[in-house]
Amino acid sequence: MQPHDPAFFMRNALESLYQHLGGESELKRIMRLFYERMAADVMLGFFFFGRDLHAIADRQSDFLLRAMGARSSYSGRPPAQAHEKLPPILPGHFDRRAVILSEVLRDQAIPPELAKAWLDFEAAFRDAVVTEQKP
Ligand code: HEM
Repeated sequence: MQPHDPAFFMRNALESLYQHLGGESELKRIMRLFYERMAADVMLGFFFFGRDLHAIADRQSDFLLRAMGARSSYSGRPPAQAHEKLPPILPGHFDRRAVILSEVLRDQAIPPELAKAWLDFEAAFRDAVVTEQKP
């Protein structure tokens, strides 16, 4: 990865976020909160009915920890495959998720520039996760 590669800047920003959090347990705590809020949300809750919320949140933490450079590998499914058996995730669902994440990060007093790193990371998976509807 070279300094002119956008992924280089994202990795640096994610490393700064990880330093700020101070370790995996704080990341996992915030991720579980994020998933609890999504599960309680009128637009997104149905995706999570009957599912093990904390297990999904922990898997997502593992995925982010690798991107942060805190883990060398991730053994779960990549985002494009993780949602294959779910109802279609539409653009509005994806946007709603971003709003909930930004609210959680604000409530947890994560500095805005570090919150942006997490939100940018999520946004990078938009095409992999969203099912675009044909007109
Ligand atoms: C509105 C958007 C999204 C919804 C509703 C959603 C929902 C879900 C649900 C219900 C699962 C559990 C699937 C299962 O147990 O079979 C899951 C797993 C997962 N999702 Fe998402 N997701 C969304 C966006 C994202 C994004 C943006 C990413 C990546 C940054 C992501 C990464 C993952 C990963 C890594 C897993 C775990 C895969 C595994 O268990 O092997 N998701 N998601």
